[in-house]
Amino acid sequence: MQRILVIGSLNADLETEVARFPKPGETLLGGPLRVSCGGKGNNQAVAAARLGAKVTMLGAVGEDNFGHMLLENLKKNNVNTDSIFIRKDKPSATALITRTHKDNHIIVTDGANNTLRPKDILAAQSLVERNDVLLLQQEIPLETQITAIEIGYQLGKLVVLNPAPVRPLPDEIIRKTSYLLPNEHEILALGKNANETIEEIILQSEIPIVMTWGDKGILYKGTDNKIVHKPAYTVTPMDTTGAGDTFCGAFCCFLSQGFEIALQKALQASALSVTHFGAQGGMPTLEELEAYSFS
Ligand code: RIB
Repeated sequence: MQRILVIGSLNADLETEVARFPKPGETLLGGPLRVSCGGKGNNQAVAAARLGAKVTMLGAVGEDNFGHMLLENLKKNNVNTDSIFIRKDKPSATALITRTHKDNHIIVTDGANNTLRPKDILAAQSLVERNDVLLLQQEIPLETQITAIEIGYQLGKLVVLNPAPVRPLPDEIIRKTSYLLPNEHEILALGKNANETIEEIILQSEIPIVMTWGDKGILYKGTDNKIVHKPAYTVTPMDTTGAGDTFCGAFCCFLSQGFEIALQKALQASALSVTHFGAQGGMPTLEELEAYSFS
């Protein structure tokens, strides 16, 4: 069983659906407010755990109702929460999400995620040691993330980075990761210059990149050094929030079975994830994934 340590964010998602996104300065009427568990780190931890990985999460929540909700949800999903800090001086972070059935706009507020410091990671070296994969995103302070990548690299772990949201990381730090999983927006920040195309970025990267591309699937470099496009599985989408997170969690979960299998199962899991509301609503269990007949 793959042992995964997720170091990352936990957010309460405050979400409403609109027929279309508002223009600058415009007010729209939306649907009901839904409150659910989210945060890229939290979502990826739950996605991997539901698929059978042994997952531990290192992060921070506030000492408030949202913090309580986030911790209980992780426990319910068999994620080890012993390394989650409960902060008295900062509230749990929230994500303000406006979505259509096809896409979303997300703003994450300042909160307990930003209290995670390099010293917290340095104190957790033995935890990194006990895991096979270190899975990271970019909703915690940059210096903390850099410390985590350094430690994962020094301990010889697989370091998987979902560079979301876009924040600049030094090249020498990127080089210490094992896989990069950006979407079509985030990948552009990994280019050497503004003129580089997505294909050039993927082909020239020293680190394997798998670009998630929404309902178009994924792009990556094949063994013949050419771009491979794997289409997404066709489903009826209800809410695409968390689809990329499901891909990342599933990819890490199945990596021990080989790169191609991990990609295929991650595509299947992320397709199922969009068929229910909320970032985690549609994330499948291993049984659900295996029982579904993908065409
Ligand atoms: O990727 C989706 C997630 O982004 C949401 O759950 C939200 O909390 C933000 O972190």
